[in-house]
Amino acid sequence: VDLKPYNTFRIEAFASRWAELHNADDLFRVMELPEFQSGRKYILGGGSNVLFTGDFDGLIIKNNISGISVVPENDRHVILKSGAGVIWDDLVRYSLDHNLGGIENLSMIPGSVGAAPIQNIGAYGVELEDTFLSLEAINLKTGEHTDFDHQMCRFGYRDSIFKRTHKDKYIITSVTLRLQKKPEPTLDYGNLRHTLAAEGITDPDIHDVSRAVRSIRASKLPDPAVTGNAGSFFKNPVMSAGYFQELKASWPEIPGFPAKSQSEKQAQGAEGAEKMMKVPAAWLIEQCGFKGKRDGDAGVHDRHALIIVNHGNATGRQLLNLARSIQDAVAGKFGIRLEPEVNIV
Ligand code: FAD
Ligand code: EPU
Repeated sequence: VDLKPYNTFRIEAFASRWAELHNADDLFRVMELPEFQSGRKYILGGGSNVLFTGDFDGLIIKNNISGISVVPENDRHVILKSGAGVIWDDLVRYSLDHNLGGIENLSMIPGSVGAAPIQNIGAYGVELEDTFLSLEAINLKTGEHTDFDHQMCRFGYRDSIFKRTHKDKYIITSVTLRLQKKPEPTLDYGNLRHTLAAEGITDPDIHDVSRAVRSIRASKLPDPAVTGNAGSFFKNPVMSAGYFQELKASWPEIPGFPAKSQSEKQAQGAEGAEKMMKVPAAWLIEQCGFKGKRDGDAGVHDRHALIIVNHGNATGRQLLNLARSIQDAVAGKFGIRLEPEVNIV
């Protein structure tokens, strides 16, 4: 199977085996195949956060498990459960259609519901974990079914247990969120409030927020249908406030924001109460001269330095080489090793 239609980088790569799941029973059938038991396997959702660096000699399991259901919890909340193969933005639109608040800031993020907990998707001041209640997953080795609650997922900034000890060991089959019946929009991120106020909207509802987020995103992110990309290629580095001050002494205009989500607090670990700062990787990359650069078909987006793009026929290797030269340049200039956000296969 050619994976080109199934990854938003539009990399040509071939997988030797392919299976599509429409429900959990399909998975149990697939688990009995000899190629499942002996060979490599990889779970794929929308392919919007993967970089294939070559052909995949193994079984790709494409998750198409559908279905959305809602049950009331109390006066203030509903419980919304979604199949892992539902398109994330379709779930956001469903929540908007039913006037349920909590995920409107996550409008227009590509990909499937089942991948959303993997890196705890986030945008415009909201992360998946803010509304997350639980997920159902099946252990790929034992076939055992496990419910993971919020704590078990160990969410962090672009992180969860499924990127660490549980990497590639489970398939997520459904995700359950708790949404608000009387939405209270989150407006504190960057230019969101300002963008809305400029339109004369000072008391926005979730529909206004979603529209504003969609228009900001459309203005700076490349559309994967036009130019291959996987969103931010690297995570924004989190560093001690002390190191940030050192950088600021040499580059007074360096942007930085206090890193304050719960997960980032955990990441401080042994350093205890030390304040942490998050610096936009895009700024660091732009300072190294990569914005808009192009080497053959591998390039850096001209409107956003954190986005690596495939202008046509770049190979996964070429994109990976570009990513490495960005990492080396940023490390050389700022002493910071950027960590990929994209899953490299
Ligand atoms: P895939 O790329 O198919 O898979 C990603 C990883 O999850 C892989 O490791 C895969 O094995 C695993 N996986 C997928 N489904 C399952 C499952 N059911 N069970 C177990 N493992 C699974 N991300 C953000 O957080 N915020 C953004 O604002 C954002 N903007 C983006 C903008 C663009 C233009 C693009 C292209 C990407 C953006 N992303 C963003 C990244 C991407 O949308 C998310 O990472 C999304 O969750 C990926 O979903 P997917 O279904 O495409 O996952
Ligand atoms: N900037 C530059 N040069 C650029 C672009 C940005 O210097 O070319 C600087 C500016 O100072 C700007 C700052 O970077 O203010 C932040 O830029 P932006 O608001 O675009 O956000 P980001 O930090 O680059 C993060 C997420 C996005 C998410 C947005 C909005 C990460 C790795 N990325 O991007 O998520 O949509 O915030 O919340 O945290 C993704 O994960 O794939 C993704 C797109």
